[in-house]
Amino acid sequence: MPSLLDKRLVLVTGKGGVGKTTVAAALALAAVRRGKRTVVCELAEQKRIPTLFSSEGTEGETEIAPGLFTISVDSERAKDEWLRHQLKSRTLAGVLGASRLFQYLTAAAPGLSELVTIGKVWDLAQLERRTGGSVFDLAIVDAPATGHALAMLTSPRTYASVARLGPVGRQAEKIDRFLRDEASTGVLMTALPEEIPVSETIEFERSLRDELGIGVDRIVVNALHPARFSATEARALEGIAAAGGGTARAPVEPSAVARAALAAALSEHRRARAEHAQLRRLRRAATAPVVTLPRVFEPELGRDDVERLSAELERRL
Ligand SMILES: Nc1ncnc2c1ncn2[C@@H]1O[C@H](COP(=O)(O)OP(=O)(O)OP(=O)(O)O)[C@@H](O)[C@H]1O
Ligand SMILES: [Mg+2]
Repeated sequence: MPSLLDKRLVLVTGKGGVGKTTVAAALALAAVRRGKRTVVCELAEQKRIPTLFSSEGTEGETEIAPGLFTISVDSERAKDEWLRHQLKSRTLAGVLGASRLFQYLTAAAPGLSELVTIGKVWDLAQLERRTGGSVFDLAIVDAPATGHALAMLTSPRTYASVARLGPVGRQAEKIDRFLRDEASTGVLMTALPEEIPVSETIEFERSLRDELGIGVDRIVVNALHPARFSATEARALEGIAAAGGGTARAPVEPSAVARAALAAALSEHRRARAEHAQLRRLRRAATAPVVTLPRVFEPELGRDDVERLSAELERRL
């Protein structure tokens, strides 16, 4: 089985705010270092990755660093493009696209937006691009959060079964087959070492397997705090705190600064311990290998920080 970076399409998903975009960018940088012509696809008109690279980002595929491209896919635009391709006539597509009846129909067809979006993503990963765009070695998708990602991944199968005989059904089936082929498509999940993101990750992995027969390749637990104290050191700190400063035998009145430092050290230690407990829980429950990325102590991550995370990620993949 090819490793994650040797597939053609990798979807990065996870709960909202856990680092999907950051990990997608880090993974892309790792792929570029291996000489792969890589495109990162953001959805819902997001353009965070070009911003990270101080690039404007254009309408289509933009090269933001040598070998690294980004594109932002908007489902409405993707729907229009898809329609044009289906009908092979710009004029008719224009007419239909603008008509209220068409909008009514597409709004009523469940999952059509998801289907055209995943269709666009699928196209980015093809050796022969349907839209005539350039060919990439790897497409990485900064996918929506878990619930929506599952809907997106399910939509080709739904359309393949309801529109079996028509061109839409055939196309949907092709996409579905590509997504379920583990040699072509990979799934990377991101989580924070906290209770809810960990539970959501376990649940998503199970749903993806049960509902679509798709496995998760890797889980990245992001922004792990460092464990600064060994168990012995932590016990010593707790002993000092319990004795009100100093030691039980030689109590001293600690200064306010010392008290604050002690409290901060203990709180750090407890957080690291809680995070490791969540990490262990995830490792026990998940099928996919779990790797970690450290928390970077910056208010907002810049390109250098993502480069550093990328080097760590590459070592651990
Ligand atoms: N390892 C890390 N250390 C420190 N900060 C991080 C780390 N990873 C991500 N962040 C920061 O956490 C915030 C959320 O990360 P990011 O935007 O990548 O998450 P997301 O899952 O894509 O969020 P959304 O669901 O909103 O798209 C950002 O401000 C990012 O810079
Ligand atoms: Mg994001």
